Amino acid sequence: MIEPFAAVDLIATKREFGELSTAEINWIIDAYVRGVVADEQMAAMAMAILLNGMQMREIVDWTQAMINSGERLDFSALSASTVDKHSTGGVGDMITLPLAPLVASFGAAVPQLSGRGLGHTGGTLDKLESIPNWQANLTNAQMLQVLKDVGAVICAAGAGLAPADKKLYALRDVTGTIPAIPLIASSIMSKKIAEGTSALVLDVKVGAGAFMKTLEQATLLATTMVEIGNAAGVKTRALLTNMNNPLGRAAGNALEVQQAIEVLNGGGPKDVVDLTVELATQMLDLVGISNVDVAANLNNGKAAAKWEAMIKAQGGDLSQPLATARHTHQLTAGSTGVVTEFDALAVGIAAWRLGAGRSRKEDTVQAAAGVTWNFELGQQVNAGDPIITLHSDDESRFELALDAFKDAVTIEPDAIVKKPDLILGRIGA
Ligand code: URA
Repeated sequence: MIEPFAAVDLIATKREFGELSTAEINWIIDAYVRGVVADEQMAAMAMAILLNGMQMREIVDWTQAMINSGERLDFSALSASTVDKHSTGGVGDMITLPLAPLVASFGAAVPQLSGRGLGHTGGTLDKLESIPNWQANLTNAQMLQVLKDVGAVICAAGAGLAPADKKLYALRDVTGTIPAIPLIASSIMSKKIAEGTSALVLDVKVGAGAFMKTLEQATLLATTMVEIGNAAGVKTRALLTNMNNPLGRAAGNALEVQQAIEVLNGGGPKDVVDLTVELATQMLDLVGISNVDVAANLNNGKAAAKWEAMIKAQGGDLSQPLATARHTHQLTAGSTGVVTEFDALAVGIAAWRLGAGRSRKEDTVQAAAGVTWNFELGQQVNAGDPIITLHSDDESRFELALDAFKDAVTIEPDAIVKKPDLILGRIGA
Protein backbone atom coordinates (compact mmCIF):
# COMPACT_ATOMS: atom_id res chain seq x y z
CA MET A 1 0.00 0.00 0.00
CA ILE A 2 1.29 3.45 -0.90
CA GLU A 3 0.93 5.75 2.09
CA PRO A 4 -0.63 9.15 1.26
CA PHE A 5 1.49 11.09 3.79
CA ALA A 6 4.88 10.89 5.49
CA ALA A 7 4.93 11.12 9.30
CA VAL A 8 7.99 13.37 9.26
CA ASP A 9 6.11 16.02 7.21
CA LEU A 10 3.19 16.02 9.64
CA ILE A 11 5.54 16.29 12.64
CA ALA A 12 7.24 19.26 10.95
CA THR A 13 3.82 20.90 10.42
CA LYS A 14 3.09 20.79 14.16
CA ARG A 15 6.69 21.77 15.03
CA GLU A 16 6.19 24.94 12.97
CA PHE A 17 2.80 25.72 14.62
CA GLY A 18 0.84 24.60 11.54
CA GLU A 19 -2.55 22.90 11.40
CA LEU A 20 -3.11 19.27 10.36
CA SER A 21 -5.94 18.50 7.93
CA THR A 22 -8.66 15.96 8.74
CA ALA A 23 -7.16 13.54 6.19
CA GLU A 24 -3.70 13.89 7.75
CA ILE A 25 -5.05 13.24 11.26
CA ASN A 26 -7.09 10.21 10.13
CA TRP A 27 -4.00 8.84 8.43
CA ILE A 28 -1.51 9.31 11.27
CA ILE A 29 -3.77 7.64 13.88
CA ASP A 30 -4.60 4.75 11.57
CA ALA A 31 -0.99 4.35 10.41
CA TYR A 32 0.20 4.39 14.04
CA VAL A 33 -2.16 1.53 14.94
CA ARG A 34 -0.98 -0.37 11.82
CA GLY A 35 2.65 0.10 12.90
CA VAL A 36 3.54 2.18 9.82
CA VAL A 37 4.16 5.25 11.96
CA ALA A 38 6.85 4.27 14.47
CA ASP A 39 6.73 4.95 18.22
CA GLU A 40 9.56 7.51 17.97
CA GLN A 41 7.63 9.42 15.29
CA MET A 42 4.42 9.45 17.32
CA ALA A 43 6.42 10.50 20.40
CA ALA A 44 7.82 13.47 18.45
CA MET A 45 4.30 14.33 17.29
CA ALA A 46 2.95 14.13 20.86
CA MET A 47 5.73 16.43 22.08
CA ALA A 48 5.06 18.92 19.25
CA ILE A 49 1.37 18.93 20.24
CA LEU A 50 2.27 19.35 23.92
CA LEU A 51 4.51 22.32 23.15
CA ASN A 52 2.57 24.02 20.34
CA GLY A 53 -1.04 23.01 20.93
CA MET A 54 -3.84 22.23 18.50
CA GLN A 55 -6.84 24.06 17.06
CA MET A 56 -10.25 22.90 18.28
CA ARG A 57 -11.03 21.39 14.87
CA GLU A 58 -7.86 19.32 15.00
CA ILE A 59 -8.72 18.06 18.51
CA VAL A 60 -12.22 17.04 17.40
CA ASP A 61 -10.75 15.23 14.36
CA TRP A 62 -8.04 13.56 16.49
CA THR A 63 -10.72 12.28 18.89
CA GLN A 64 -12.88 10.99 16.04
CA ALA A 65 -9.90 9.20 14.47
CA MET A 66 -9.20 7.44 17.79
CA ILE A 67 -12.88 6.44 18.10
CA ASN A 68 -12.76 5.06 14.54
CA SER A 69 -9.78 2.86 15.48
CA GLY A 70 -12.15 0.55 17.39
CA GLU A 71 -15.75 -0.38 18.04
CA ARG A 72 -18.54 1.98 19.12
CA LEU A 73 -21.12 0.52 21.49
CA ASP A 74 -24.78 0.98 20.71
CA PHE A 75 -27.43 1.25 23.40
CA SER A 76 -30.31 2.14 21.08
CA ALA A 77 -32.08 -1.09 22.15
CA LEU A 78 -32.63 0.41 25.62
CA SER A 79 -35.85 2.26 26.36
CA ALA A 80 -34.10 4.55 28.91
CA SER A 81 -31.72 7.36 27.92
CA THR A 82 -28.07 6.71 28.72
CA VAL A 83 -25.97 9.09 30.78
CA ASP A 84 -22.49 8.65 32.22
CA LYS A 85 -20.03 10.53 34.40
CA HIS A 86 -16.26 10.77 34.10
CA SER A 87 -13.94 12.13 36.76
CA THR A 88 -10.42 13.25 35.89
CA GLY A 89 -9.32 11.53 39.09
CA GLY A 90 -8.83 12.51 42.68
CA VAL A 91 -8.02 11.15 46.12
CA GLY A 92 -10.92 9.47 47.93
CA ASP A 93 -13.03 9.93 44.79
CA MET A 94 -15.43 7.00 45.09
CA ILE A 95 -18.39 9.06 43.84
CA THR A 96 -19.08 6.68 40.90
CA LEU A 97 -20.07 3.95 43.36
CA PRO A 98 -23.11 5.66 44.91
CA LEU A 99 -23.74 7.86 41.84
CA ALA A 100 -24.45 5.17 39.22
CA PRO A 101 -27.17 3.40 41.27
CA LEU A 102 -28.60 6.75 42.46
CA VAL A 103 -29.08 7.99 38.88
CA ALA A 104 -30.48 4.59 37.81
CA SER A 105 -33.00 4.75 40.64
CA PHE A 106 -34.70 7.61 38.72
CA GLY A 107 -35.02 5.57 35.50
CA ALA A 108 -31.94 6.69 33.53
CA ALA A 109 -29.47 4.08 32.26
CA VAL A 110 -25.84 4.45 33.40
CA PRO A 111 -23.20 2.57 31.37
CA GLN A 112 -20.00 3.21 33.28
CA LEU A 113 -16.88 1.78 31.66
CA SER A 114 -14.05 2.23 34.11
CA GLY A 115 -10.37 1.61 34.59
CA ARG A 116 -7.88 0.54 37.21
CA GLY A 117 -5.76 3.01 39.17
CA LEU A 118 -2.19 3.94 38.33
CA GLY A 119 -0.16 6.11 40.69
CA HIS A 120 -1.79 8.04 43.52
CA THR A 121 -5.40 8.17 42.24
CA GLY A 122 -7.46 5.03 42.74
CA GLY A 123 -9.39 3.15 40.08
CA THR A 124 -13.10 2.33 40.31
CA LEU A 125 -12.55 -1.32 39.28
CA ASP A 126 -9.91 -1.82 42.00
CA LYS A 127 -12.41 -0.51 44.54
CA LEU A 128 -15.25 -2.79 43.40
CA GLU A 129 -12.93 -5.81 43.22
CA SER A 130 -12.62 -5.59 47.00
CA ILE A 131 -16.20 -6.97 47.11
CA PRO A 132 -15.92 -10.79 47.27
CA ASN A 133 -16.50 -12.49 43.86
CA TRP A 134 -17.32 -9.26 41.96
CA GLN A 135 -16.33 -9.56 38.27
CA ALA A 136 -15.13 -6.53 36.30
CA ASN A 137 -15.06 -8.14 32.85
CA LEU A 138 -18.34 -8.41 30.95
CA THR A 139 -19.03 -9.04 27.28
CA ASN A 140 -20.94 -6.30 25.45
CA ALA A 141 -24.06 -8.51 25.52
CA GLN A 142 -23.74 -9.03 29.30
CA MET A 143 -23.26 -5.32 29.81
CA LEU A 144 -26.41 -4.52 27.85
CA GLN A 145 -28.34 -7.13 29.84
CA VAL A 146 -27.30 -5.62 33.21
CA LEU A 147 -28.27 -2.18 31.89
CA LYS A 148 -31.69 -3.51 30.87
CA ASP A 149 -32.26 -5.43 34.12
CA VAL A 150 -30.78 -3.00 36.66
CA GLY A 151 -30.24 0.34 34.90
CA ALA A 152 -26.60 0.74 35.95
CA VAL A 153 -23.45 -1.19 35.16
CA ILE A 154 -19.84 -0.53 36.13
CA CYS A 155 -17.37 -2.73 34.27
CA ALA A 156 -13.99 -2.80 32.54
CA ALA A 157 -13.64 -1.04 29.19
CA GLY A 158 -12.94 -3.78 26.62
CA ALA A 159 -9.84 -3.89 24.41
CA GLY A 160 -11.96 -3.02 21.36
CA LEU A 161 -12.71 0.50 22.58
CA ALA A 162 -10.42 3.20 21.10
CA PRO A 163 -7.34 0.94 20.73
CA ALA A 164 -5.40 3.89 19.25
CA ASP A 165 -5.75 5.64 22.61
CA LYS A 166 -4.40 2.62 24.50
CA LYS A 167 -1.27 2.56 22.34
CA LEU A 168 -0.81 6.33 22.40
CA TYR A 169 -1.44 6.62 26.16
CA ALA A 170 1.25 4.00 26.89
CA LEU A 171 3.67 5.94 24.68
CA ARG A 172 2.81 9.29 26.30
CA ASP A 173 3.33 7.74 29.72
CA VAL A 174 7.02 7.04 28.97
CA THR A 175 7.79 10.16 26.90
CA GLY A 176 6.69 12.94 29.26
CA THR A 177 3.73 13.85 27.05
CA ILE A 178 0.78 13.09 29.33
CA PRO A 179 0.07 16.71 30.42
CA ALA A 180 -1.00 18.08 27.01
CA ILE A 181 -4.59 19.35 27.14
CA PRO A 182 -5.45 18.37 23.50
CA LEU A 183 -4.13 14.84 24.15
CA ILE A 184 -5.78 14.42 27.58
CA ALA A 185 -9.13 15.73 26.29
CA SER A 186 -9.12 13.54 23.15
CA SER A 187 -7.97 10.49 25.14
CA ILE A 188 -10.77 10.75 27.70
CA MET A 189 -13.47 11.73 25.22
CA SER A 190 -12.61 9.07 22.61
CA LYS A 191 -13.34 6.37 25.19
CA LYS A 192 -16.51 8.02 26.50
CA ILE A 193 -17.94 8.65 23.01
CA ALA A 194 -17.04 5.11 21.81
CA GLU A 195 -18.83 3.79 24.91
CA GLY A 196 -22.06 4.99 23.32
CA THR A 197 -23.56 7.17 26.04
CA SER A 198 -26.03 9.85 24.90
CA ALA A 199 -25.09 12.31 27.66
CA LEU A 200 -22.04 12.87 29.84
CA VAL A 201 -21.17 14.86 32.95
CA LEU A 202 -17.48 15.51 33.50
CA ASP A 203 -16.09 16.06 36.99
CA VAL A 204 -12.88 17.99 36.35
CA LYS A 205 -10.84 18.04 39.55
CA VAL A 206 -8.75 21.09 40.44
CA GLY A 207 -5.97 21.37 43.02
CA ALA A 208 -3.05 19.69 44.75
CA GLY A 209 -4.42 16.15 44.45
CA ALA A 210 -5.55 16.50 40.82
CA PHE A 211 -4.05 16.38 37.34
CA MET A 212 -5.00 20.03 36.84
CA LYS A 213 -3.42 22.16 39.56
CA THR A 214 -5.01 25.52 38.65
CA LEU A 215 -8.55 26.68 37.87
CA GLU A 216 -7.28 28.12 34.59
CA GLN A 217 -5.87 24.76 33.36
CA ALA A 218 -8.97 22.89 34.54
CA THR A 219 -11.27 25.36 32.78
CA LEU A 220 -9.37 24.90 29.53
CA LEU A 221 -9.51 21.09 29.81
CA ALA A 222 -13.22 21.15 30.69
CA THR A 223 -14.09 23.53 27.84
CA THR A 224 -12.15 21.39 25.36
CA MET A 225 -13.88 18.18 26.48
CA VAL A 226 -17.35 19.78 26.43
CA GLU A 227 -16.75 21.00 22.86
CA ILE A 228 -15.52 17.55 21.73
CA GLY A 229 -18.57 15.85 23.29
CA ASN A 230 -21.09 18.25 21.82
CA ALA A 231 -19.41 18.03 18.37
CA ALA A 232 -19.89 14.23 18.52
CA GLY A 233 -23.58 14.56 19.46
CA VAL A 234 -23.10 13.64 23.14
CA LYS A 235 -24.78 16.19 25.43
CA THR A 236 -21.83 17.14 27.63
CA ARG A 237 -21.49 19.33 30.72
CA ALA A 238 -18.57 19.75 33.14
CA LEU A 239 -18.30 20.66 36.80
CA LEU A 240 -15.00 21.97 38.15
CA THR A 241 -14.57 20.61 41.68
CA ASN A 242 -12.07 21.11 44.47
CA MET A 243 -9.31 18.52 44.96
CA ASN A 244 -6.93 20.40 47.24
CA ASN A 245 -8.17 18.26 50.09
CA PRO A 246 -9.17 14.62 49.78
CA LEU A 247 -12.87 13.80 49.49
CA GLY A 248 -14.68 12.12 52.35
CA ARG A 249 -12.87 10.31 55.13
CA ALA A 250 -11.13 7.40 53.37
CA ALA A 251 -8.69 6.58 50.57
CA GLY A 252 -8.26 2.91 49.69
CA ASN A 253 -10.27 0.24 47.94
CA ALA A 254 -12.46 -1.56 50.52
CA LEU A 255 -12.36 1.56 52.73
CA GLU A 256 -14.00 3.61 49.94
CA VAL A 257 -16.55 0.88 49.18
CA GLN A 258 -17.51 0.92 52.88
CA GLN A 259 -17.99 4.70 52.66
CA ALA A 260 -20.09 4.33 49.49
CA ILE A 261 -22.38 1.86 51.28
CA GLU A 262 -22.84 4.41 54.09
CA VAL A 263 -23.78 7.11 51.55
CA LEU A 264 -26.27 4.76 49.84
CA ASN A 265 -27.89 4.17 53.20
CA GLY A 266 -28.43 7.83 54.01
CA GLY A 267 -25.15 8.46 55.90
CA GLY A 268 -21.55 9.18 54.92
CA PRO A 269 -19.43 12.34 54.84
CA LYS A 270 -21.23 15.54 53.83
CA ASP A 271 -18.86 16.47 50.96
CA VAL A 272 -19.30 13.04 49.35
CA VAL A 273 -23.09 13.24 49.69
CA ASP A 274 -23.21 16.81 48.34
CA LEU A 275 -21.04 15.99 45.31
CA THR A 276 -22.96 12.78 44.58
CA VAL A 277 -26.28 14.65 44.67
CA GLU A 278 -24.96 17.54 42.53
CA LEU A 279 -23.50 15.22 39.84
CA ALA A 280 -26.68 13.12 39.82
CA THR A 281 -28.80 16.27 39.43
CA GLN A 282 -26.71 17.34 36.41
CA MET A 283 -26.82 13.85 34.84
CA LEU A 284 -30.59 13.56 35.26
CA ASP A 285 -31.10 17.07 33.91
CA LEU A 286 -29.18 16.16 30.71
CA VAL A 287 -31.63 13.31 30.03
CA GLY A 288 -34.69 15.41 30.82
CA ILE A 289 -35.37 14.22 34.37
CA SER A 290 -35.70 17.33 36.52
CA ASN A 291 -37.79 18.49 39.47
CA VAL A 292 -37.03 15.30 41.38
CA ASP A 293 -35.78 15.06 44.97
CA VAL A 294 -32.40 13.49 44.19
CA ALA A 295 -31.18 13.26 47.81
CA ALA A 296 -34.37 11.46 48.86
CA ASN A 297 -33.35 8.23 47.09
CA LEU A 298 -30.24 8.01 49.28
CA ASN A 299 -32.47 8.01 52.34
CA ASN A 300 -35.42 5.86 51.24
CA GLY A 301 -33.51 2.73 50.16
CA LYS A 302 -34.13 3.12 46.40
CA ALA A 303 -30.48 3.84 45.47
CA ALA A 304 -29.28 1.14 47.91
CA ALA A 305 -31.57 -1.43 46.23
CA LYS A 306 -30.11 -0.53 42.81
CA TRP A 307 -26.58 -0.86 44.21
CA GLU A 308 -27.32 -4.35 45.58
CA ALA A 309 -28.83 -5.47 42.26
CA MET A 310 -25.92 -3.97 40.29
CA ILE A 311 -23.24 -5.68 42.42
CA LYS A 312 -25.14 -9.01 42.45
CA ALA A 313 -25.52 -8.97 38.65
CA GLN A 314 -21.71 -9.14 38.44
CA GLY A 315 -21.36 -11.92 41.01
CA GLY A 316 -20.53 -9.68 43.99
CA ASP A 317 -21.43 -11.05 47.41
CA LEU A 318 -22.42 -8.22 49.75
CA SER A 319 -23.30 -10.66 52.56
CA GLN A 320 -19.59 -11.31 53.12
CA PRO A 321 -17.63 -8.70 55.09
CA LEU A 322 -15.18 -6.45 53.26
CA ALA A 323 -11.49 -7.11 53.90
CA THR A 324 -9.86 -5.35 56.83
CA ALA A 325 -6.11 -4.77 57.08
CA ARG A 326 -3.89 -7.01 59.19
CA HIS A 327 -2.11 -3.95 60.62
CA THR A 328 -3.07 -0.38 61.46
CA HIS A 329 -1.00 2.57 62.64
CA GLN A 330 -2.42 5.74 64.23
CA LEU A 331 -1.17 9.29 63.74
CA THR A 332 -1.95 11.88 66.36
CA ALA A 333 -2.28 15.67 66.16
CA GLY A 334 1.10 17.30 66.77
CA SER A 335 -0.40 20.40 68.41
CA THR A 336 -3.68 21.96 69.54
CA GLY A 337 -5.52 24.20 67.09
CA VAL A 338 -7.55 24.27 63.92
CA VAL A 339 -6.77 22.12 60.86
CA THR A 340 -6.06 24.69 58.13
CA GLU A 341 -4.67 22.37 55.44
CA PHE A 342 -4.92 18.68 54.57
CA ASP A 343 -2.99 17.77 51.45
CA ALA A 344 -4.83 15.43 49.05
CA LEU A 345 -1.66 14.46 47.21
CA ALA A 346 0.02 13.32 50.45
CA VAL A 347 -2.99 11.16 51.32
CA GLY A 348 -3.03 9.65 47.81
CA ILE A 349 0.68 8.86 47.91
CA ALA A 350 0.40 7.34 51.40
CA ALA A 351 -2.54 5.11 50.38
CA TRP A 352 -0.60 4.01 47.32
CA ARG A 353 2.52 3.19 49.37
CA LEU A 354 0.39 1.23 51.86
CA GLY A 355 -0.64 -1.09 49.00
CA ALA A 356 -3.91 0.44 47.73
CA GLY A 357 -2.41 1.45 44.37
CA ARG A 358 0.05 0.13 41.84
CA SER A 359 3.30 1.46 40.36
CA ARG A 360 3.23 -0.76 37.28
CA LYS A 361 0.20 -2.00 35.36
CA GLU A 362 0.90 -5.61 36.33
CA ASP A 363 1.06 -4.99 40.12
CA THR A 364 -1.75 -6.31 42.33
CA VAL A 365 -3.45 -4.09 44.91
CA GLN A 366 -4.43 -4.80 48.51
CA ALA A 367 -8.18 -4.59 49.08
CA ALA A 368 -7.85 -3.39 52.67
CA ALA A 369 -4.92 -0.95 52.43
CA GLY A 370 -5.39 2.80 52.71
CA VAL A 371 -5.85 5.82 54.93
CA THR A 372 -8.79 6.97 57.04
CA TRP A 373 -9.14 10.26 58.90
CA ASN A 374 -11.70 11.59 61.34
CA PHE A 375 -11.59 15.37 60.83
CA GLU A 376 -12.31 17.98 58.22
CA LEU A 377 -10.79 21.37 57.38
CA GLY A 378 -11.58 23.98 60.00
CA GLN A 379 -12.05 21.43 62.78
CA GLN A 380 -10.48 21.97 66.23
CA VAL A 381 -8.10 19.18 67.33
CA ASN A 382 -6.09 18.71 70.51
CA ALA A 383 -2.43 17.66 70.68
CA GLY A 384 -2.30 13.88 70.99
CA ASP A 385 -5.77 13.23 69.48
CA PRO A 386 -5.73 10.27 67.07
CA ILE A 387 -6.65 11.86 63.70
CA ILE A 388 -5.37 9.57 60.92
CA THR A 389 -5.17 5.77 60.63
CA LEU A 390 -2.96 3.91 58.18
CA HIS A 391 -4.12 0.43 57.08
CA SER A 392 -1.96 -2.25 55.43
CA ASP A 393 -1.48 -6.02 55.30
CA ASP A 394 2.24 -5.36 55.22
CA GLU A 395 3.70 -3.59 58.28
CA SER A 396 6.94 -2.71 56.47
CA ARG A 397 4.98 -0.25 54.29
CA PHE A 398 4.17 2.11 57.19
CA GLU A 399 7.57 3.86 57.20
CA LEU A 400 7.34 5.08 53.58
CA ALA A 401 3.68 6.04 54.01
CA LEU A 402 4.55 8.06 57.12
CA ASP A 403 7.15 9.90 55.07
CA ALA A 404 4.39 11.14 52.75
CA PHE A 405 2.57 12.64 55.74
CA LYS A 406 5.44 14.87 56.94
CA ASP A 407 3.77 18.18 55.99
CA ALA A 408 0.32 16.89 55.07
CA VAL A 409 -1.67 18.34 57.97
CA THR A 410 -1.31 21.97 59.07
CA ILE A 411 -2.69 22.88 62.50
CA GLU A 412 -2.76 26.54 63.58
CA PRO A 413 -3.89 27.92 66.94
CA ASP A 414 -6.98 30.19 66.82
CA ALA A 415 -7.20 30.11 63.01
CA ILE A 416 -10.53 30.67 61.30
CA VAL A 417 -10.92 28.62 58.12
CA LYS A 418 -13.49 29.38 55.46
CA LYS A 419 -14.58 25.97 54.17
CA PRO A 420 -13.45 25.77 50.54
CA ASP A 421 -16.21 25.57 47.95
CA LEU A 422 -16.67 22.06 46.60
CA ILE A 423 -18.04 23.18 43.22
CA LEU A 424 -15.82 25.80 41.58
CA GLY A 425 -17.59 26.21 38.26
CA ARG A 426 -19.74 24.70 35.54
CA ILE A 427 -19.12 24.56 31.80
CA GLY A 428 -21.63 23.62 29.11
CA ALA A 429 -25.31 24.26 28.55
N1 URA B 1 -6.99 9.89 31.53
C1 URA B 1 -7.07 9.41 30.27
O1 URA B 1 -7.87 8.53 29.99
N2 URA B 1 -6.24 9.93 29.34
C2 URA B 1 -5.35 10.91 29.60
O2 URA B 1 -4.64 11.32 28.71
C3 URA B 1 -5.27 11.39 30.91
C4 URA B 1 -6.11 10.86 31.87
